[in-house]
Amino acid sequence: MILAPSLLSADFGNLERELRSLEDAGLTWVHIDVMDGCFVPNITLGPPVIKRLRKNSRLFFDVHLMIIAPERHIAAFIDAGADMLVVHAESCARLDDTLREIRRSGTMAGAAVSPDTPVRTLETVVPLLDSALVMSVHPGFGGQSFIPESPGKVRELRTMLRERGGQAVIEVDGGVDPDNTPHLVAAGADVLVSGSAFFSRPPYAARLQDFLRAAAGARPDA
Ligand code: DX5
Ligand code: ZN
Repeated sequence: MILAPSLLSADFGNLERELRSLEDAGLTWVHIDVMDGCFVPNITLGPPVIKRLRKNSRLFFDVHLMIIAPERHIAAFIDAGADMLVVHAESCARLDDTLREIRRSGTMAGAAVSPDTPVRTLETVVPLLDSALVMSVHPGFGGQSFIPESPGKVRELRTMLRERGGQAVIEVDGGVDPDNTPHLVAAGADVLVSGSAFFSRPPYAARLQDFLRAAAGARPDA
């Protein structure tokens, strides 16, 4: 299991220092939420901030685009240094073309489904996915409660990927904490995104261990 702390819950006044602290604590990924105030009600940050952070960080930048018409901005996020771009199935006119465009540049590509979107929406694009992301809250804000049906969706996605020969990792994003971690890992999740539950309990190295211990207690059933 990879833990990807969501920068949304970090100290926005000291992002560079936060990224350094994550690296020092043994984290390898950071999840960066981009929100446009249209696809979701909230607004966060864009390519210039990511580009600046890229200069001093070796973390894997998992960039989650909660924006309408993401195809218009892919080049800018790739130029900014994203390692992976995750777009929403609900906001892409042509999801397959958008994923192909991301991959053409050598950047990894992912697709996310909001809670009301069935995982089968991703069925036809499985070969184009490096990551399939299940939203376990309605996108837009950190600190929301985990939707209990989410492990079931992860299980369904795991089955679909197996049937279709997909290589994507399964990410889960929203309300993830050490209590639901064993259920998500058992259902087949590979990458867990955590904002508030991670950042609210420093030191980060110890908090990472809380999640890893919880994951180790899971019995994979999928
Ligand atoms: C929500 C974001 C999440 C969020 C997770 O729209 O995509 O990445 O930051 O934060 P928590 O873990 O607090 O739900
Ligand atoms: Zn996210």
